[in-house]
Amino acid sequence: MTHWREILRTTPMRLTLRLVVLFVAASLGAFAVTWWLANEALLDATETVLEQQIDELSAADEPQAIGQAVKAAVKRSDSDHLLLRYDGPDGTVGNYLGRLPPGKFRQSDLEDEQHDVDGHYILLGKNVAGGTLTVGQDAEALTELRDVFIQVLTFTLLPTALLVLTGGVFIALRSARRAAAIEDTLARLTAGDLAARLPVLTGPPDDLTRVGSAIDRLAAAQEASVAALRQVSADIAHDLKTPIQRLAVLLSEARDKAPHLEVLDRASAEIDGIVATFQSLLRIAQIEGGSPRSRFAPVDLGSLAETMVELYEAAAEETGHNLHLTLTDPATIKGDRMLLGQLLANLIENALRHTSSGAITVFVENASLIVADKGPGIPKEERQAVLRRLYRLDRSRSTPGNGLGLSLVDAIVKLHDGSLVLSDNDPGLRVTVRFAEFTEM
Ligand SMILES: Nc1ncnc2c1ncn2[C@@H]1O[C@H](COP(=O)(O)OP(=O)(O)OP(=O)(O)O)[C@@H](O)[C@H]1O
Ligand SMILES: [Mg+2]
Repeated sequence: MTHWREILRTTPMRLTLRLVVLFVAASLGAFAVTWWLANEALLDATETVLEQQIDELSAADEPQAIGQAVKAAVKRSDSDHLLLRYDGPDGTVGNYLGRLPPGKFRQSDLEDEQHDVDGHYILLGKNVAGGTLTVGQDAEALTELRDVFIQVLTFTLLPTALLVLTGGVFIALRSARRAAAIEDTLARLTAGDLAARLPVLTGPPDDLTRVGSAIDRLAAAQEASVAALRQVSADIAHDLKTPIQRLAVLLSEARDKAPHLEVLDRASAEIDGIVATFQSLLRIAQIEGGSPRSRFAPVDLGSLAETMVELYEAAAEETGHNLHLTLTDPATIKGDRMLLGQLLANLIENALRHTSSGAITVFVENASLIVADKGPGIPKEERQAVLRRLYRLDRSRSTPGNGLGLSLVDAIVKLHDGSLVLSDNDPGLRVTVRFAEFTEM
């Protein structure tokens, strides 16, 4: 049902329907004018014939002779085709004595049981000596003309309209398929799959094919520039890593030699922060590169969550938090156990760091991991932004961290083809990560 509605909404189908309506309207107009002209010509010819007959019958110009002529003509003719009537001083004679419609030249349905007259006739009346002479001819020719026109209409207009409609549906189906392929590719590109390209479109090329190729070119350019950007960031990180590490070593040596210089402690703390940021950035770049997928193995989400919660229990108690674990039918998924542990660690650490106290619950429901807290939460309009690298909420400026934890979570979820949703825990933040359950074949 929706499929047909979609086809009706395609440009080729709309154009086809408009063309069919235009074609039918133009053809009907042309047929109507032609039919009217032919009808008029036929009526003119009939009028001339009827006039001739009246002239012949009234040639004597004397009532009795006209009456005689009419009677004689009635005997010769058939009332089905020719009506004759003379309304003279001695009464009415002829093969039709029924009612006569007013007017000189007119068409009418006539009926006279006595003379077996019943049908549609074309009549011409004329005042002649002593009265009125009326001659009529059956209108069969007009009816035939109308029938011919109806036949021509049915055998030309209807098949043509049907043919055009069928052609339109075929073209619309093809273009709907092309539009769907383009939409699908655009949706994948929008979702971040920059490698998405249009499938080969069968059939002769058209404007949609051109749009499709343009999208492919755009995606290829985008993919290339993102790859170049990644490469540059990775190169910078890589080139800076060694000097920074050397600097850290030098600072620690300096601290050993001059333990009383407090400024060296501060410099050392800063350098540690820089090293941590670099390591996280490189880690995210590496995960986004997708290389560790080869290490994927079955991971039991329940036991992983148990381990992580145990690991953080003491820290949670220290900060006045209450860390729980709720397992509901935990599933096994295919993934990297270490990275999945890192994901849970980042989410638990966030809950510990960004909420002052209260309950923190880790749920494992089938193949979903949920970490929910009772803190200030993240405003709806910032929930996408916090996934960006180095992005932190204004209120978190004074808390330690560098805004890379959730970016790493996002990269790990994408690597596992999962979904990540940040929502309101009323109050607090609720992070839901959904994976596909692993089933052994
Ligand atoms: N559970 C939470 N409750 C409230 N705000 C949060 C929570 N988790 C994250 N945020 C907000 O989102 C921001 C980004 O989080 P993210 O984990 O990426 O960085 P971070 O925790 O600040 O630093 P780190 O790189 O050490 O993780 C945080 O700075 C904080 O403002
Ligand atoms: Mg964090």
